[in-house]
Amino acid sequence: MTADAAPNPYTAEAIECPYPLHERMRERGVYHLEENDVWIVSRWEDVQFVLKRADLFSNLVGLDPHGLSPEEAARARETGALPASDPPEHTHYRRLAGPWLSLRGLEPFEPRVRAIIDGLIDRFIDDGEVELGRRFSTPLTVLVFVELMGIGDEDVPRVTAWVDDTIESMGAAFGLVGRERLAELQASGEEFRRYLLALAEERRRHPRGDLLTHLVTAPLPGFGGRRLHEQELQGMLVTLLMGGTETTLNMVDSGMWLLLEHPERLAELRADPSLIPNFVEEALRVESPVQQLQRRALADAEVGGVKVPAGARLSVFYAAANRDPAHWDDPDAFDIHRAGAKRHAAFGAGVHYCIGAPLARMEGRIAFERLLARLANIRYSPGRNDFRHGPNHVIRGFRELWLRFEKA
Ligand code: HEM
Repeated sequence: MTADAAPNPYTAEAIECPYPLHERMRERGVYHLEENDVWIVSRWEDVQFVLKRADLFSNLVGLDPHGLSPEEAARARETGALPASDPPEHTHYRRLAGPWLSLRGLEPFEPRVRAIIDGLIDRFIDDGEVELGRRFSTPLTVLVFVELMGIGDEDVPRVTAWVDDTIESMGAAFGLVGRERLAELQASGEEFRRYLLALAEERRRHPRGDLLTHLVTAPLPGFGGRRLHEQELQGMLVTLLMGGTETTLNMVDSGMWLLLEHPERLAELRADPSLIPNFVEEALRVESPVQQLQRRALADAEVGGVKVPAGARLSVFYAAANRDPAHWDDPDAFDIHRAGAKRHAAFGAGVHYCIGAPLARMEGRIAFERLLARLANIRYSPGRNDFRHGPNHVIRGFRELWLRFEKA
């Protein structure tokens, strides 16, 4: 590569060590990456601009309305999937689910999250060693979803297997899944879809006080009072689940890694757990679980002084914005006392700002409160960690994180 070649964030090296590359991306400003036919957006100001202009940049990245009748185009917009819809449909979906996931909506849920976390720690605390992702962070995110939806405990193993398969199938986009395995994963995805729809049908017939019942039965004023149709319900459920699993898992694992890399910070948190919420924010800033997502330009636009044509795809780098020295003092430093850490871009910005942020923050806070209270002398398991990251340009997180500890 020549010195002034456009920095390419879609390489294998970029997965392991993205930050020097992000620096070069920010230096270059907005640019077109020819190999991938995508426009790279990485400076804080530019990322905020794109995220806050949903009128100019669409989340329906794959939707090409050409050749569709008006009815077909209208139907194709009704995805029910918050991250894959635009206003006005997006606004109606958000009003439906938003109150349940707000701080106030979640309040009654907090004791359950605490019980789930303690229950998971109970299962490995006598072993003295744990692979954090498999035995703690992943089941935590699945159990929280199960609780939210009012799914019975007996279904947890099935739901966990389906979630694992869904995560694995995402690797297909990066050529990481063989053809035979992909067929298995697709069959598993179909089974999961049928399970969720059957569960929804069950709630329609026997309503309860849970989020799933609300999603199935509440009329949508924005759509003339109709209810979610099947495609929308499926889109809503799958994105609520997938939005909250790998992301939260990596927040916990990367947070633990950051503490083990900065033992003086770990000691501070143990001495004063009231610092945990700000530590969680700072961990999200420096190791953003969602590194980037895409938008499509609805019209000719200008971003950071660069003209971007209608129809262009843009890759928006939350992670690069979160370390932009034009916005953050000493951006590469991990500072759990940082003022304003909470105003990072790890949850996005604008109308698509993560609907699960209050829940993720609650899970992160309680997870570290309980892990630090119950496990003493946490350290890496000797020889068991290679610190490699999952093969994914969107989601950043370790493949494994093995820890040793004593009971506190
Ligand atoms: C640390 C954990 C999390 C991180 C880093 C994260 C990150 C993000 C980001 C960056 C976006 C913005 C997408 C965009 O700009 O288009 C987003 C949206 C979203 N997240 Fe999260 N998320 C987390 C946890 C959760 C949880 C727990 C849930 C489940 C309730 C969830 C569900 C969603 C959904 C449904 C959206 C789409 C919102 C919309 O488009 O209106 N996320 N998340």
